[in-house]
Amino acid sequence: MYNVREVQKNIWWLGASDRRLELFENVYPVPEGMSYNNYVILDDKTCLMDGIDDAVSRQFLDNLDHVLAGRTLDYMVVQHMEPDHCSCIPELLLRYPEMKIVASQKAIQMIDQFYHIKVDGIAVKEKDTLELGHHTLNFFTAPMVHWPEVIVTFEAATGTLFSADAFGAFGAMSGNIFADEVDWDQDWKSEARRYYVNIVGKYGVQTNALLKKAAALDIKMILPLHGHLWRSDFGKIIELYTKWATYTPEKNSVAIFYGSVYGNTANAADILAMDLAELGVKDVKVFDVSKTHYSYLLSTAFEYSTLVFASATYNAEIFDHMHTFLTDIKNHNLSGRKVGLIENGSWASMAGKKMTEILGTMKDMTILEPSVKLTSSVDDASRAQLKELATALAK
Ligand code: FEO
Repeated sequence: MYNVREVQKNIWWLGASDRRLELFENVYPVPEGMSYNNYVILDDKTCLMDGIDDAVSRQFLDNLDHVLAGRTLDYMVVQHMEPDHCSCIPELLLRYPEMKIVASQKAIQMIDQFYHIKVDGIAVKEKDTLELGHHTLNFFTAPMVHWPEVIVTFEAATGTLFSADAFGAFGAMSGNIFADEVDWDQDWKSEARRYYVNIVGKYGVQTNALLKKAAALDIKMILPLHGHLWRSDFGKIIELYTKWATYTPEKNSVAIFYGSVYGNTANAADILAMDLAELGVKDVKVFDVSKTHYSYLLSTAFEYSTLVFASATYNAEIFDHMHTFLTDIKNHNLSGRKVGLIENGSWASMAGKKMTEILGTMKDMTILEPSVKLTSSVDDASRAQLKELATALAK
């Protein structure tokens, strides 16, 4: 049975949530599920704005059939060719053979790559337009937010920005599809951050370019492909995106990440956290990198101004999970953080040297002194180093 909502006159939300999904993109845990949005504009011409994931395609097809109410589908705008929005294209072409696909040239090529279908599509470029009747679609390229073929679409008559993956979030939705219908700050901001950081975070420069294009538009509604829809309070989400895209921390505090085999490196991390608390630093966070999925750790690394990495030496290397995490930080282009290091090694300690090497390939990462060295466990000398490091971090 259909389950739709008219988000403004003649623009319908057709989305659905998947609460069974464990890993989005088979990578990111989504304990609260995942939402997929797409939209239909009803005008002289009918136009579908993006498709949906296979997992919820039955709901989507029911929704589309209901909203079209016997009309045909004239256009499908494919803003993004990732299969979580496109796996329904072959089925749509069977149901609506006259449907014209509107997309970037690269997206049209990707339809062939994914589905071996050569569509006679309408390739659009920056500032191309498409008239639907009363609605006019204006297309803007948004390469690498999140893939190279991405476009976003601004409907001028209603001030509606169809923003593709931008402004999305992890998490299923529950009827309240507008951000102003939920306690977004408390319940959704952290999952919006984790979504942005992990999915698009590498491409801050490109996200900034999109934000600049958006700033020139008179936006009255933002309709993303995941997460809540925005019809007010745009400043909040734009301000967050501006910070995330420029790698600007939201919180001036210390996040400590440890990789510990028998608990001694963890002990050093906890001692450091207590020293920081006694020096008046608030909101200190400590994470075991073996326990917490690195997508959450990365999100915190974007959020915090100051990061401490504490790692045991393992196979003459950084402890495995810490290595994965540091590589992930580097791959997402995080920059401009103050960093503290704690290494542990019972013999031939290598973690500090190897962590310094990875951090040295990143932009504007300032390693504070002293780097703390443990030989198996915290002793008086390393206890004193931790206090010194806490003082340097607290500054
Ligand atoms: Fe939601 Fe990049 O796809």
